[in-house]
Amino acid sequence: METRWSRNYELGFSAIDRQHRELFENVDSFIQAIIDEKEDEELASLFTFLESYVKNSFTEEDLLLKRSAWPDTEVHIAQHEYFRRRFADLHRDFLRKGANEYLVEDIHHKVVSWMTGHIQNEDKLWSAWIKENRPDFIA
Ligand SMILES: [Fe+2]
Repeated sequence: METRWSRNYELGFSAIDRQHRELFENVDSFIQAIIDEKEDEELASLFTFLESYVKNSFTEEDLLLKRSAWPDTEVHIAQHEYFRRRFADLHRDFLRKGANEYLVEDIHHKVVSWMTGHIQNEDKLWSAWIKENRPDFIA
């Protein structure tokens, strides 16, 4: 499965596009570290870094949605929260069981697929709405 960032994911909001791209890059290097069978200790520190990255990843977007008064802001922010919680679950599983063959699969499914679907289906909704209704918020 493709884990790399694609220009198709760009929403036209540079700070948010950058956060999304960096998240993909960080997840991609983490998956690579698992495949390369790095020591659990190294994976653990990468996982901790990634989790704090995930926690902060949507702050810019959450703020933009609130400020623009997009009607579905609360629902959308709840989706980000769901993603953060699922990521924390993955981290907990890893701390309990270490890296195994299911971890890469889980990360593909719960992180990469989720992000790809979220950006292409959900983020496209608010970005289209803001471009149409609040062009002063495009940055
Ligand atoms: Fe989003």
